[in-house]
This record gives sequence, structure tokens and C-alpha cells, in this order.
Amino acid sequence: MTRRTHGTAGEPNPLRALDLDRLRRRTSMKWRTYPDDVLPLWVAEMDVPLAEPVVRALTDALALGDTGYPAGTAYAEALAAFAEKRWGWTGVDVGRTAIVPDVMLGVVEMLRLVTGPGDAVVVNPPVYPPFFPFVAHLDRRVLGAPLGAAGRIDLAVLEESFQQAVAGGRRAAYLLCSPHNPTGTVHTAEELTAVARLAGEYGVRVVADEIHAPLVVGDTEFVPYLSVPGGEDGLSLMSASKAWNLAGLKAALAVAGPGSAADLALLPEEVGHGPSHLGAVAHTAALRDGTAWLDALLAGLDDNRRLLARLLAEQLPGVRYRPGDATYLAWLDCRALGLGDDPADVFLHRGRVALNRGLPFGTGGAGHVRLNLATSPEILTDGVRRMAAALR
Ligand SMILES: Cc1ncc(COP(=O)(O)O)c(C=O)c1O
Repeated sequence: MTRRTHGTAGEPNPLRALDLDRLRRRTSMKWRTYPDDVLPLWVAEMDVPLAEPVVRALTDALALGDTGYPAGTAYAEALAAFAEKRWGWTGVDVGRTAIVPDVMLGVVEMLRLVTGPGDAVVVNPPVYPPFFPFVAHLDRRVLGAPLGAAGRIDLAVLEESFQQAVAGGRRAAYLLCSPHNPTGTVHTAEELTAVARLAGEYGVRVVADEIHAPLVVGDTEFVPYLSVPGGEDGLSLMSASKAWNLAGLKAALAVAGPGSAADLALLPEEVGHGPSHLGAVAHTAALRDGTAWLDALLAGLDDNRRLLARLLAEQLPGVRYRPGDATYLAWLDCRALGLGDDPADVFLHRGRVALNRGLPFGTGGAGHVRLNLATSPEILTDGVRRMAAALR
């Protein structure tokens, strides 16, 4: 695949657009879970205004009263064009896509297609916490194959889990998080090819959550799982929701490869009832016309990563932070601070800053916190100051 370079084309950094007073008027989860003296740097919502093309598309729809049910394939077409431009990947075939309400419900529906009740779903902890309850709620068993050194997939551990998962002739799936939340790891083509080889060998079906795919920084290449040799029978979930902050505008896409098209064709029609038409309108506009905004965001996130590394080195040198190549989440190893398994609790109660607790991320989460750096440099600076104050 060809590497595309991105420029910011004069677009202002969206992370600098909103001050704390405006943000505190928001009514979403990030801003309404904690009291006003707590600075929220937790759930994956970004402190940005919407990209202008998204505002325009939504405003036009509202002006028309175009608020009915979703129709057509515009979202899938926008994703196909984005994938080709951004990743040099032509594998999104609109006929092999389905609109789903959001990525997590899409994950559940894909797992339902390729496994049965009681079957195992392999995940790589520490990983996005909802993977555990959503899989359990579907009546599947979660099998952990912890990430190895440097937050990368450990193929030997993965193979052991695959072996265990299919024991007794059971069907099994691997829920791959690509790029990985919380470490920001971007899996390489070699790693994903090895994953596909193992999955093929053991008959494990791969469901790839690729929601963070547009949020890959600099020269790092995002490799769609379906694009690697052997990945053709995988199923992917993609969405504009993380990269353009559209979680409240429900819509995502399930994408099948040539080898999984027959599975996706069995998706019951009622699943398509969940996504919102306005969601599809917003996601389509983001993918089609929101790349200049995205590039400006990525540049701002890069600055914030460097800022965070510097602030931590100055004020909390005991915290280990390895900036990832994707997402706007920072996975902080706080074990050397002596705050026990749940340092987020100490930062919250003594520092008045809300971070995600590491424990719900599973094995490897103890002593860690996840910090959301999709905010202004000023708020990020205040967040680290509050963390440091918690230790005094
Ligand atoms: C890896 C991952 N998957 C899924 C989601 C949730 O996506 P959705 O709101 O579309 O279900 C998130 C949100 O942060 C995420 O990080």
C-alpha cells in the first residue's frame, strides 16, 4: 500500500478552540459524571468543536426536516473513498458492508455471526474495558491473551489462547483492537499477517475493531486487517465516531472481506434499525469532507503527546509513558508511585482530576491509568499539575 502524507492546509488546531467554561456547559458523560471541581480527562470524548463540513451537513438536514430513517450507501461509499485515499486500500466493497448502530453493537453482532453461545472470544488485555461485559452479555467466554513487551501482540500467547479457545471443536473468535486502546499500538503488516496465519490454522474468526484507524500519527502506517494475506475472512468495524467526536450521533459500519461476505449477508435486517439517519449524515460528511480538520487534529494531538511527556518528566518522573502511534489516549504506568492498584482513585480524590482506572482494562491494568489528551494544552497542563498535587 502507498503511504499518503497529510498536510493541515491552514486549518486551525481544533484542540485549542474551546475553553473550560464552554466545555463545562456540555451535558455528555465526560463533563457530567464528576462535580465541577474535577477536571475530566477520562472517557474518549474530545474537547473540540465539530468539523465544519459535519456541522453543515447536519444543519442542512435539520433545516430540511430530514430526520427520518437511514437509507442508501453514502456512508459506506465515503468510507471506501477515505480508505483508498488515506491508507491506499481499495478493499471496502460497498456491497460487503452493513450499517450498524455503533462499533460495540457491531462487534456484538459480528461475534454472534461467527460464534455460538458459550464459545470463546480472545482479547488482548489491557484492552478497552467494554470488550469484557459486551462479550459476557452475548453469552460468550472472554479469553485473555495479554499483550507482550512494549504493548505488542505476543504471538506465542495468542496461539496458546487460540488452541484453548477451539478445544473440543468449538467455534471461536478473536476480537482484535486495531489500533490498540489503551496503548495506542499500531499493529504492523507483519504482525497482522502472522495473526491471520494463526487464525487460519486454528479456525478462529477475526473481528477487528478499527474505530481508531483514522487517528494514526505521522509516518506510521495503519494496516486494515482485511488487507493482509489471510485476513480476507475477517470482519471489521469502522466508524468516524472517535476521530471526529461523533459518539452521540450513532452510526458505524461493518465491513466484510471476500471470505466473510456470506457471514455478513446473514446479519438480520433489524440490526439496521439502530443507527440514526443524522448519525449516518454526520459520519458521511466527516469521512468525505473532514480530512483537513482531521489532519489539524492529528497535528494538535502530536503536540499534546510531546507536551504530556515533558510535563510528566518534570512533575511526575516516576510515571512511565510510552507515547503510542495512534488514538488520543495515554496509558500511564504509575506503579513506581506507590499508589497501589488503583492510582486513578488517588488522583481523583486528592488531585481532583478524573482519569480512567487501569483495573477494568484487565490483566496489566493494575497500577495504570488512562489519560485522554484530546484537549487544549492548557487543560492538559492543569491535569498533570493536579496529578502531581495528589502526591504531595
Ligand atoms: C476500541 C473502541 N471500540 C469501541 C468504542 C466505542 O465505539 P462506539 O461508541 O461506536 O460503540 C471505543 C470508544 O472509545 C473504543 O475505544
